[in-house]
Amino acid sequence: MIDRNAIQKAQEQLGKLLEAQMERVEKIKAAPDWVDYSKISPIKIGILPGDGIGPYIAAEAERVLRYMLDDELKSGKIYINTIEGLTIENRAAHNKAIPDDVLEEIKKYHVTLKGPTTTPRKGDPWPNIESCNVAMRKELDLFANVRPVRVPKQGIDWIFFRENTEDLYALGPYGIEVGMDIAIDFRLCTTPGAERIIKMAFDYAKRNGRTKVTCVTKANVVKTTDGKFLEVFYRIAKDYPDIQVDDWYIDIMTAKLVDEKRRREFQVLVMPNMWGDILTDEAAEFQGGVGTAGAANIGKQYAMFEAIHGSAPRMVQEGRAQYADPSSMIRAAAMLINHIGYHDRARKLEMALDICGQYEKKLVITGRPTGATGKEFTDYLIDWLNNPKLEETWQNYVKG
Ligand code: IPM
Ligand code: MG
Repeated sequence: MIDRNAIQKAQEQLGKLLEAQMERVEKIKAAPDWVDYSKISPIKIGILPGDGIGPYIAAEAERVLRYMLDDELKSGKIYINTIEGLTIENRAAHNKAIPDDVLEEIKKYHVTLKGPTTTPRKGDPWPNIESCNVAMRKELDLFANVRPVRVPKQGIDWIFFRENTEDLYALGPYGIEVGMDIAIDFRLCTTPGAERIIKMAFDYAKRNGRTKVTCVTKANVVKTTDGKFLEVFYRIAKDYPDIQVDDWYIDIMTAKLVDEKRRREFQVLVMPNMWGDILTDEAAEFQGGVGTAGAANIGKQYAMFEAIHGSAPRMVQEGRAQYADPSSMIRAAAMLINHIGYHDRARKLEMALDICGQYEKKLVITGRPTGATGKEFTDYLIDWLNNPKLEETWQNYVKG
């Protein structure tokens, strides 16, 4: 039997979603241009410790950040402070992905370094609130999720530009239950939304001497949204005639990353949100796992830097939180340092992370008492940052 009432209710709900998206598109079109950090003083950095293992690894990442920016902290050019309240307990108490006062506080900072935060799902002991990562990406319009993966010894040097505010994520909490038996979610791709992330990927390639940009979709099946993304990709590619382009479907792309003969060919990759979520977890595995990968969530006004993994509540329950790997968040800190203009220092930090995590490996993190604690690992890393042989050692590592 066709339940016309249920259909009409669903149509009305969809209408409201579309109204909101039309307003959003107008906002993207009218958005102010990129902030220029060289003109800002002090640059305000907020630390969001998160929950689960978050506070443990955030403390180590903050220590490294303060070490790297010591001069600017002393001179007052940079200011670092902790923002409280982004814990699952507080978010659950307010029944909000980000409580209003916390969001207001976050907006007072130019950039934030964020620890993992628990994302509830149906059936969890928490209210089923939206992921606070996702909410923050939307609220601050952090449309680019930039995730580098480098394994110099294997010739892997990828950088993923994952669209961060659209796709299945945009309307993820707003799916519709139609009658008893049908559940439907919506997938979104807007022209200005696709344009800005794809442009950013090409601009990055151009600025950094990369020669190829690859687009990842499933446009053969998901024809309307991924079809638009791919069409915008090839249109924008015309403005960058010196850069080679190709495109792959997500399924074969996941296979090609494992293909030792082909995977070195990929350089800059751009894709819609969900494919980027999946592909970047896979890619991080080559570098030593998601515990070693950082992410930059970048918008024109704000930026947030975080680990790509979750809050691992089980590690806390089992009393192992101090063994969590802080490398992911320290990689994120390196991206933050780079983003606010200290490129050489960011590179230095990345070299030290490569040496400690992939080359010398004097201390190894296993997530258990069989390995080093996050604090011990960070001390080891800071020793390398002080070592005059850092650059030379890294060059030796890369040459193999
Ligand atoms: C990520 C995470 C998040 C995402 C989760 C926690 C909502 O997996 O940052 O990749 O899916 O984007
Ligand atoms: Mg993910």
